[in-house]
Amino acid sequence: MSQKWNPDTYAKHARFVSDLATPLLELLKPQPGERILELGCGDGALAAKLVECGCTVVGVDTSPEMVAAARRRGVTAYLMNAQSLSFDAEFDAVFSNAAIHWMKRPGDVIAGVWRVLKPGGRFVGEFGGRGNVATVVAALKAALTARGIPARSVDPWYFPDAEEYKARLEAEGFRVWGAALVPRPTPLPTGLEGWLKVFAQEFLNLILESDRQSFIEEVARRCSPGLRDANGVCVLDYVRLRFIATKPVALPDTSRC
Ligand code: BEZ
Repeated sequence: MSQKWNPDTYAKHARFVSDLATPLLELLKPQPGERILELGCGDGALAAKLVECGCTVVGVDTSPEMVAAARRRGVTAYLMNAQSLSFDAEFDAVFSNAAIHWMKRPGDVIAGVWRVLKPGGRFVGEFGGRGNVATVVAALKAALTARGIPARSVDPWYFPDAEEYKARLEAEGFRVWGAALVPRPTPLPTGLEGWLKVFAQEFLNLILESDRQSFIEEVARRCSPGLRDANGVCVLDYVRLRFIATKPVALPDTSRC
């Protein structure tokens, strides 16, 4: 069983994901009248902000529940995998927050973004980079191993370093203006248990339901000394990879002048 998304659970435990996207929106600099595609639009919280800026926004997501939630907000959203985009050179910008790390075929994402952007269009995004949530990943793997489950069997996320992602963008033809890892320790409003239930389902699904609560408690214990702040709040070791790249405008062919 793979990752499933529930808009109500997401709103309760993970609203901070879109709330913390201000620096990314500042990097995107949406302009009124622009046509923008959002990859992994989720429940449409950010797409709705872009609409407020006067943009025409299309969101895509692989979760039918999230697409329905985005539509309830009035966002134009389609059930579509960002690894096989079916648009054609029609967007001024492609934007993505906290979604690309779920896409294990980054080359297909980048090639698709290249296809759907107009010449001169920009690709602006942020997702988990190298070292992201490393304490939780180590605790999940240790707790699986302790139960005799091979930890290598679960690997749901793509967390590259900035140089690797920049090289992939450049190999497609993008001009990369910035790509950097940004450590962002993130307090979890509803604690680690809620976060695990929303985001770590591929690990939890390997555990019998009768053992799941004690597995979650064990993971929380293994994380506890490193991830608690002075007030006992769980602060997750997020590391974002933030980037901005553009598809160059094709130069006129002057070879025959
Ligand atoms: C992230 O946004 O970095 C993230 C979300 C879910 C799982 C792992 C990472």
